[in-house]
Amino acid sequence: MKVEVIKFDNSGRGIGYLNDKIIFIPKTVPGDIVDVEIVLEKKNYLEGRLVEVITPSKLRQKPICPYFNECGGCDLMHISLSESLEYKLNKVNDILKRNKIDYEVTKIIKSECPYNYRDKVTFKIVDGKIGFFQTDTHKLVEINYCYLCKDAINNVIKDIHTLNIKNGEVIIRCNYNDELLLSLNTQDKIDNIETLINEHKIVGIVNNDKCIYGEDYFIDKINDYLFKVSYNSFFQVNPYICSELFKLIEKYTDKSNNVLDLYCGVGTLSIVASMNAKNVLGVEINSNAIIDANLNKTLNKRNNVDFICEDTKNILNKITSDFDTIILDPPRSGVVQKVLNKIMEVNPDKIIYVSCDPNTLARDLKLLEEKYIISNFKLLDMFPETEHNESIVVLEKK
Ligand SMILES: C[S@@+](CC[C@H](N)C(=O)[O-])C[C@H]1O[C@@H](n2cnc3c(N)ncnc32)[C@H](O)[C@@H]1O
Repeated sequence: MKVEVIKFDNSGRGIGYLNDKIIFIPKTVPGDIVDVEIVLEKKNYLEGRLVEVITPSKLRQKPICPYFNECGGCDLMHISLSESLEYKLNKVNDILKRNKIDYEVTKIIKSECPYNYRDKVTFKIVDGKIGFFQTDTHKLVEINYCYLCKDAINNVIKDIHTLNIKNGEVIIRCNYNDELLLSLNTQDKIDNIETLINEHKIVGIVNNDKCIYGEDYFIDKINDYLFKVSYNSFFQVNPYICSELFKLIEKYTDKSNNVLDLYCGVGTLSIVASMNAKNVLGVEINSNAIIDANLNKTLNKRNNVDFICEDTKNILNKITSDFDTIILDPPRSGVVQKVLNKIMEVNPDKIIYVSCDPNTLARDLKLLEEKYIISNFKLLDMFPETEHNESIVVLEKK
């Protein structure tokens, strides 16, 4: 069925109309005329799959990756990098507008490397083949190279089959020194790790949460900071943008005394903020990440940082007026309302909100707006070629 794509939605899909119903079509570009197959029919909308581009949009470019059309990993490789940056700015401004937040973001910080930036990736293994799933399916797209991943990750893909995994997944992490940490999730017997160890800089292999070779962590380095990162701790996936994020945290905490860093992971932002602040307290739910955070405190010679392993919603009594700056870097779901209410009650001078989901960010900003004004809002292109981005927002007390 023929559809003309008129604009992007906020998930990087093209939007058109078919029989007066809105239709969302991934991997299409405004201005394209496309042949589409309907994959989902709902009362108010349709979802389509691109069959063929009949007339390409002027914005369309040939994706560098041969797997782009089937693979669920990237969304925007079919437009130029500058178009994708403009899309991300427009998208975030649209979300702010829909949430009635009167602020226009004008700046997006580019990733020094738009390709080969990812230092962590999860590959699926199905019937001995390695790749990614197609969007919203469990159909494997077999690959031997991913343009988003660092080269040390790409080099190891061809040898993963030597592990003899038939079904499962492999999570590969790579540090500043191109060392690799592998985490396998499979019921299959791993009977040969020698090839991988001999051919690649593998520092550790973990299988179903049990270390079967080397260590279950590695040391990563961003700017001059060193971080122990366990196989299952969160760490930002784009070291180039992570470096920019750290510089902004240093800048925004330069007049802070006491900083509370909620959702602190392995202590990254706490440690960066502690360079300026008198004292920092980090809170994180993952106990392995807190073990890493305490070691990172020593690695970076910081004695003005402390960490607590807790769910943020259970430490409301620790959110006090002693803190003049609160850093929030929650998962995609955003900050729970109970915690936001407590922050509003304590009313610190400054809140620095780091977010990877503009929808939950806007929801939370709407609540904070009662007592705060946005003094700075920057987008960071943490995930080039995908529809995602990172935001850092500074809120000052009214
Ligand atoms: C986006 S990461 C940020 C980590 C860190 N700020 C960084 O930049 O590396 C979010 C972190 O919040 C933690 N987390 C998720 N839910 C939490 C909760 N309810 N209470 C405390 N931490 C939580 C996750 O384990 C994860 O480490």
